[in-house]
Amino acid sequence: MYILAPSLLAADFTRLGEQISETQAAGAQYLHIDVMDGVFVPSISFGMPLIESIRPVSSQFFDVHLMIVHPEKYIEEFVRCGADGITFHLEAAKDPQSIIDKIHQCGAKVGISIKPGTALEEVFPYLEQIEMVLIMSVEPGFGGQAFIPGSYERIRRMREYIDTHGLNVKIEVDGGVGKKNVREVLNAGADVFVAGSGVFRKNSISDNISKFREAFEEGKQE
Ligand code: DX5
Ligand code: ZN
Repeated sequence: MYILAPSLLAADFTRLGEQISETQAAGAQYLHIDVMDGVFVPSISFGMPLIESIRPVSSQFFDVHLMIVHPEKYIEEFVRCGADGITFHLEAAKDPQSIIDKIHQCGAKVGISIKPGTALEEVFPYLEQIEMVLIMSVEPGFGGQAFIPGSYERIRRMREYIDTHGLNVKIEVDGGVGKKNVREVLNAGADVFVAGSGVFRKNSISDNISKFREAFEEGKQE
């Protein structure tokens, strides 16, 4: 099953609750929530109070993407505010194992994210214990950037590694994913598709999401 994860960063914040409900009604199973600290990435986005206030309006899986240093400090608080899954950056983790354990102890699913320049091999040792690996297809920090073409090969290689080792871990792809390239990203082997501009901009949310759903229903083309 393919999963759409609209990225809140591209929403109209004056109509946040309404727009979240629209994504849910249109079939988006996850809500992707980008937390930026101005240190790990240049920009600052939002944090716990926002997550806590939107939790009651959605039953989607809250997919919290932490682009912050010292992710270990904030795990309990994010889970308390409503995170269902927490993805941290391998580049920001001094002791990835202890972060994985802590997220699991708090009752949430674990994702590990890698930036476009980080070798896939660095995440291999952890794949057996985590639920999701997030392959960034742009440099983290801002919405609306163009998909880096080299990401297709990284998704394919990750898919191959996961399948040959019989692992049960989802591949999430984040950055520059839209109706134009969703099929290519899907064919490369992604399971979870993050889309900010692709969901919230230009056309209505439900029209945008229906394009993703068409691609998901067609499935993988050999
Ligand atoms: C970038 C964020 C993304 C971003 C995606 O650092 O992690 O989730 O919001 O936005 P689009 O889909 O517009 O590239
Ligand atoms: Zn993200």
